[in-house]
Amino acid sequence: MKFNTKTIHGGQHNTDPAYGSVMPPIYQTSTYSQTTPGGHKGFEYSRSGNPTRKALEDALASIENGEFGLAFGSGLAAIDAVLKLFKPGDEIISTNDLYGGSYRLFTKIFEDFGLKFHFVAMQDTSKIEAAITDKTKLIWVETPTNPMMNIIDIEAVSKVAKAHNLLLAVDNTFATPYLQQPLDLGADIVMHSVTKYLGGHSDLVMGGLVVRDKELADKLYFIQNASGAVCGPQDSFLALRGIKTLHVRLQRHCENGKAVAHFLKSHPKVDKVYWPGFEDHPNHDVAKKQMKDFGGMVSFTTKNDSLQGAVEVVEKLKVFTLAESLGGVESLAGHPASMTHASIPKEERQKTGIKDSLIRLSVGIEDAEDLLEDLKQALG
Ligand SMILES: Cc1ncc(COP(=O)(O)O)c(C=O)c1O
Repeated sequence: MKFNTKTIHGGQHNTDPAYGSVMPPIYQTSTYSQTTPGGHKGFEYSRSGNPTRKALEDALASIENGEFGLAFGSGLAAIDAVLKLFKPGDEIISTNDLYGGSYRLFTKIFEDFGLKFHFVAMQDTSKIEAAITDKTKLIWVETPTNPMMNIIDIEAVSKVAKAHNLLLAVDNTFATPYLQQPLDLGADIVMHSVTKYLGGHSDLVMGGLVVRDKELADKLYFIQNASGAVCGPQDSFLALRGIKTLHVRLQRHCENGKAVAHFLKSHPKVDKVYWPGFEDHPNHDVAKKQMKDFGGMVSFTTKNDSLQGAVEVVEKLKVFTLAESLGGVESLAGHPASMTHASIPKEERQKTGIKDSLIRLSVGIEDAEDLLEDLKQALG
């Protein structure tokens, strides 16, 4: 199956035994009757497994060209499960420009349990090599990064990971499998905040993991059940429904993202625009190589480089909604320094370019003209 067909049919068996429903029923149940102890039809208790969640997990595995999918109560719960593969003393190398909540989970929760994190600029793989010790177990990549839109060469990092026998995990939230498929580029684990583009309608919070290796999958399924951060059947249904239109939505997100990025670049009040589709983006060539298009996320700073200036712009927006999150059909604007990345200390934030004046846009699928008009009036 090709990708667009997979978003609709991948991993789905259309075998609803009761009425032949085309969409999987929402199995809103915590438990399943047994004829004799252990005599069940594949499901015993909904933390361990639920048919609606399973349909979603199979869809996730399919669109990421993986073998095994796992769904969680949030993106962070999915990352939490990955980190529980490790033991005190183990070391993890992460990109230094990543979602603030991931950084907070690493440094404020798992460092206390004895994991050690090294944050490096992964655009240069020699920096990764330099951080590897005999205790390193995992490389954590986010690309494009949130919110600076840096691009990391997944294939190049996977060569480093393989040479040192390390696991490679890629947070594919921004790109989605429509744009890039990290397992095909050598990653071992793909992670998603399903909350974003996969759900696509800003109506759920959910996380996902996809792997190919059975042994790794079994360890993760064990953690998923043992720690219990699963999502419910209603949300699983919504995510499945969202995935069915991923390809059409993403195509429009990319078109509108391009229009917005070019508009901002030519605006006299705008200073820098971060979008990997620009030829002068530092890793444009890598983006071109590993992504099908450049996505709908665009960040920018204004020449009036002040917190107050940025706040005034986001407050004036009318079609863009000022809100946390991204990846829904509607356009959103965010102010990373005070919103999504406030959990990263200011000095750390500024090292990676997250200035107080930075504004991040999740460009939706409205008419591009309306989006440009809105930005024009807000920038003044
Ligand atoms: C790149 C990235 N990874 C992970 C997460 C965390 O996902 P969730 O909010 O679903 O827990 C987010 C949320 O914004 C994100 O943007």
